[in-house]
Amino acid sequence: MAVQISPSILSADFARLADEAARVEGEADWLHVDVMDNHFVPNLTLGLPVVEALLRATSIPVDCHLMIEDPDRWAPGYAEAGAGSVTVHAEAAKAPVRTLRAIRAAGARSGFALNPATAVEPYEDLLPEIDMLLLMTVEPGFGGQRFLDVVLPKVTRARALIEKHGGEIWLQVDGGVSAETIERCATAGADVFVAGNAVYAAADPAEAVRRLRELATGF
Ligand code: DX5
Ligand code: ZN
Repeated sequence: MAVQISPSILSADFARLADEAARVEGEADWLHVDVMDNHFVPNLTLGLPVVEALLRATSIPVDCHLMIEDPDRWAPGYAEAGAGSVTVHAEAAKAPVRTLRAIRAAGARSGFALNPATAVEPYEDLLPEIDMLLLMTVEPGFGGQRFLDVVLPKVTRARALIEKHGGEIWLQVDGGVSAETIERCATAGADVFVAGNAVYAAADPAEAVRRLRELATGF
């Protein structure tokens, strides 16, 4: 279970995305890109054209988190564009098996996300279709929110389910992950850590990524 850090560009300067990506190059395992449609969540960010531009501008693999309605329609396009990982929400997908398979067929890792109040147990049978399970540790929609400790027992239970199914699925946490909270997430069993504010509000984002990795590894 190798620790991976995925800085979220939601907290970066959208006018300078290529430069912001470059600031964590060599340290970050992924660049986390939050796609929001102002329907599934009450915020609007960016879509496929910006992701395509970012893919041309960086060599860091892109981790697309789709907080949108009708992800069944849109998700495969992000995989076809070259995103390394594409995550859809359980609360939004109407045909998750078909969509997760379409993401894989297009060459990306399939991600499946659960909001804080969504239980993981009903999705156990779907685990073979999933390369990464994302547990939201804030209500999705905005960066810089306070970490929800209430999700930690679910992280522990999700880790146990993953081990029961062979242990290959990555377990990502997203929301309020910082130097203060990352050890709790790692102890509970998370291995992929999204961090927006903790990286891009820092004076030295690369150093912030190093520090987060150290804390998540050495708990
Ligand atoms: C929130 C997004 C997160 C966000 C995390 O809905 O999914 O990826 O960028 O930002 P921080 O780390 O600042 O909570
Ligand atoms: Zn996200």
